[in-house]
Amino acid sequence: MANIDFSKRDSFGSKFGVIAATAGSAVGLGNIWRFPYVAGESGGGAFVLIYLGFILLIGVPVMLSEFIIGRRGQQNAFGSFKKLAPGKPWYLVGLMGIIAAFLILAFYSTIAGWTLEYIMQSITNSFNGKNSAELKQSFEIFQSGTFRPILWQLIFMGLTAWIVFSGIKDGIEKSTKILMPLLFVLIIILCIRAVTLPGAIEGLEFLFKPDFSKITWGVVLEALGQAAFSLSIGMGALITYGSYIGKDNNLSTTAIQVSLADTAIALLAGVMIFPAVFSFGLKPDEGFGLVFIVLPNIFEQMAGGYFFSIIFFILLAVAALTSTISVLEVVVAYFVEELKMSRKKATIIGSVSISAIGVFCTLSFGGLSNFKIFNKTVFGIFDYLSANILLPIGAFLIVIFLGWFLGKKVIVDELSNNGTLKNRLLGLFIFIIKFIAPVAIAMVFLYSTGIIKL
Ligand code: PFF
Repeated sequence: MANIDFSKRDSFGSKFGVIAATAGSAVGLGNIWRFPYVAGESGGGAFVLIYLGFILLIGVPVMLSEFIIGRRGQQNAFGSFKKLAPGKPWYLVGLMGIIAAFLILAFYSTIAGWTLEYIMQSITNSFNGKNSAELKQSFEIFQSGTFRPILWQLIFMGLTAWIVFSGIKDGIEKSTKILMPLLFVLIIILCIRAVTLPGAIEGLEFLFKPDFSKITWGVVLEALGQAAFSLSIGMGALITYGSYIGKDNNLSTTAIQVSLADTAIALLAGVMIFPAVFSFGLKPDEGFGLVFIVLPNIFEQMAGGYFFSIIFFILLAVAALTSTISVLEVVVAYFVEELKMSRKKATIIGSVSISAIGVFCTLSFGGLSNFKIFNKTVFGIFDYLSANILLPIGAFLIVIFLGWFLGKKVIVDELSNNGTLKNRLLGLFIFIIKFIAPVAIAMVFLYSTGIIKL
């Protein structure tokens, strides 16, 4: 059994390390794969506007709340609640987060595996000479297979487990510092290519011109879910990371910077994808495969596309990796601190059991594509349930906990670093977490489930 010394927990080594690791968790397939596919299915501009509203009103305050809980609690998602609310059932929120982590990683690793396949396809130059219909067809053939998608998924889970096992500072910090800014630069280059394609303007209009006739309560719930998913909030990943953040870090600044970076990347991903969608005669509501069908088309149409495609998919895989390690870390930190496992055992048990469920998600595009519950495949259910249900409920409970249970003093102490920092937005923050965020989340739920009708 491992000897656990809570006074000597791992922590992030520098201020930039905190931002890099948290941004690493936030920025990932959620921005580049999920945002375009959900925006595309939800009608574009109006969805994007609502999404931005949720980032500001709910996303940033919940992220900050999670940091406060984690840094104050100095434990995993479950333990932090137990420590801050002894004898009360708030730890169940942490437990729910751990369940959400299982579901998220199970389906996320499917898509992460696809990025590895696309690195290979880029290297072997297999997009070369194919037109849009052929690129779509070759994606579909790969996606509906069995052996390759599962192999890539397992390789990706193995990589994640290896990094999580090697510890916080060394593993997470080093891998994010250099590569995330590089991804940013590459996305900008791709945006420039996309907006100069013939017919690009139609895509930009789709993304930025709101058409409110497309808005239903279901779309509003999608926007809320996407905001939560993209910022990694609602399941304790940021509570766990918050517990590794040093006492001198300005939590508000970190939350704002990370949310800004995350939102910028999602919007840029939209600018990179939608002009190309229209230019190549594809449809924005293509679904889960959207970016994997569109991106090769862009590479085919640009000078140096061969090299750009290799670098891009490598960086996308890394962005996915810095997110998957944050999800697995939630599970591992719980196993280590609560169930007293060694880090190695916790990592192996966590990643093997998640992979076992994950295989069913991958097969949802192949052998299990006809197996549907509520008209959704296993993958579709995991994706919907985690992003649109579990994360918003988690976010709701987190702000209620902070606003109504933990008390103002803890918030003031954590935001001002025990009185050493000024905090001009304190009053606004408290107002949002006490009233605005919980009411907004509750309303979206009640309306989108039809419990309340307008
Ligand atoms: N935020 C990540 C992304 O956008 O790819 C996904 C994610 C990571 C969701 C961690 C939830 C989480 F706890």
